[in-house]
Amino acid sequence: DIELSLRPETLKQYIGQDQTKRNLHIFIEAAKMREEPLDHALLYGPPGLGKTTLASIIANEMGVQFRTTAGPAIERAGDLAAILSSLEPGDVLFIDEIHRLPRSVEEVLYPAMEDFCLDIVVGSGPSARSMRLDLPPFTLVGATTRAGLLSAPLRDRFGVHSRLEYYETEALCSIVERTADIFHVEIDLNAAVEIARRSRGTPRIANRLFKRVRDIAQVKGESVISLETTQEALEMLQVDAEGLDYIDHKLLKGIMDGFRGGPVGLDTISATIGEESQTIEDVYEPFLLQIGFIQRTPRGRVVTPKAYAHFHREVPGT
Ligand code: ADE
Repeated sequence: DIELSLRPETLKQYIGQDQTKRNLHIFIEAAKMREEPLDHALLYGPPGLGKTTLASIIANEMGVQFRTTAGPAIERAGDLAAILSSLEPGDVLFIDEIHRLPRSVEEVLYPAMEDFCLDIVVGSGPSARSMRLDLPPFTLVGATTRAGLLSAPLRDRFGVHSRLEYYETEALCSIVERTADIFHVEIDLNAAVEIARRSRGTPRIANRLFKRVRDIAQVKGESVISLETTQEALEMLQVDAEGLDYIDHKLLKGIMDGFRGGPVGLDTISATIGEESQTIEDVYEPFLLQIGFIQRTPRGRVVTPKAYAHFHREVPGT
């Protein structure tokens, strides 16, 4: 499966996130020398930066099984108990969107993480009693878009905390070239840089844009994907020079047109443009904040002069 082979399998193959890679490399080597599982690790940062990929690399580098689930998929304590008791010693259990675990499930996780045991209640009423089951030692890798969404007790039980950052253009360019290689197509360096520049610092977006660019090059019968074709494709996809897409535009124009550039509350923006608050907050805002197109103030979101300049507009009241 070519989609799966896009994911790097070792830290060496993984491009970018140098700080996180350096740290993980040491923690993994140390754990292997002690013949212990790696400490529980929390990976946080915007979607598409490679949290799942890193988790699978951890399992691979430790030489153990990679088991994966997600916060919203674990509805009851029993669901988690079933997963935990099926682990083999050393396994990596990946829980994506771990901030969405129900509180009752979280409580089962605490002793599992700390002491590798399950406290279960058997029976009911006066005859109910608590039983303790041993679990194999394992590594929990949790992923979340924002560490702040996690309860403090859960956050504190992770020994390793890694924040993934938006990628530099250079790293994204290498990722695009690697992807082109895997797909057995040639791409001009300028074209790869163009995709990288317009991918909002995000490998998932770079790979998605690459595939659409490749479609157009294919239909045109182009043997080496050119800059011209790339620009044509990105225009078709409504991705602008900064990598902003249709929804970014709707968000920024919504604040500029409806609220004179803000400040305006998240829920008001959400209702105005018809996008989920959570999606705005987790997916769109972090990049717009990073490039300085919006700011968060106590009274709400504000569009900056830099964003006005991007749209060739005057800042209101100037
Ligand atoms: N594909 C997607 N993200 C990647 C990364 N960080 N390194 C290598 N290939 C990737």
